[in-house]
Amino acid sequence: MSRIAYVNGRYQALAAACVNVEDRGYQFSDGVYEVCEVRGGRLIDERRHIDRLKRSLAELRIAMPMSEAALGVVLRETVRRNRVRWGIVYLQITRGIARRDHAFPPPGTPPSVVVTARNMDLANAERQSSEGVAVISVPDNRWERVDIKSVSLLPNVLAKQAAREQGAREAWFVDRQGRVTEGSSTNAWIVTREGRVVTRHADHAILRGITRTVVLDVIKAHGLTLEERAFTIEEAQAAREAFITAASQIVLPVVRIDGKPVGNGAPGLVATALRRDFHLHAEAT
Ligand code: PDD
Repeated sequence: MSRIAYVNGRYQALAAACVNVEDRGYQFSDGVYEVCEVRGGRLIDERRHIDRLKRSLAELRIAMPMSEAALGVVLRETVRRNRVRWGIVYLQITRGIARRDHAFPPPGTPPSVVVTARNMDLANAERQSSEGVAVISVPDNRWERVDIKSVSLLPNVLAKQAAREQGAREAWFVDRQGRVTEGSSTNAWIVTREGRVVTRHADHAILRGITRTVVLDVIKAHGLTLEERAFTIEEAQAAREAFITAASQIVLPVVRIDGKPVGNGAPGLVATALRRDFHLHAEAT
């Protein structure tokens, strides 16, 4: 079945779908995006993703291209046309098409909207979560506003490639003080030897993951102790457990950090329980 993309008002065959060469997303990475999990054909935590999208747009002074209700229709229609049961829907909004000039285009330039959706390999995801994954650490060389979900992801691309080349699934960024900020496309967590769950506080140095927000609810429901603070790679390597979260992975146990096993080198009980119960706390619409 050929995939379908929504591009600026039209549903087109993905293979033929194009954006203008003067789209500011293409020229300047002047845009934002969201990735939402699709499960049983329903969107997971759509409301929170749209709220974060609106915040990202507002921070960059890009107009919301259509009403929230209309955007919801486009997301669902793209999911439906691609027959996605279990996968992701991707939404990108840029500052639109204009003659190349770094400063903003004339007021009224319509933002560009692209939506794609695809199924994911469920068996592969289950295998990864039951085996756990490896991460490496890399210096955090990103700008200071990574709380905005911008499509400007070059440091993240290079970090992920470094991980791949070292046989790891993810790269954790480490700030100048030697503390982990987050993964190249995930939030980073550990469980201390005392059983406390630790993740970095959500300031401008990390993306406030929607999965992270829901996992905080699961942690509360399980009566676990949470610490929102920074941690180092050494602390993570000495932890009982580590894991990563993102809409496309939910909770994925980390079993190696820079080549050193975490805990007994197998997925931990806390990560496994948080993954199992995640959808009891997420919203499906
Ligand atoms: N990544 N941190 C970064 C840098 C991310 O890119 C992401 C999401 C997250 C987790 O956010 P959420 O739980 O809302 O997915 C944290 C998406 C999935 C991506 O780029 O594909």
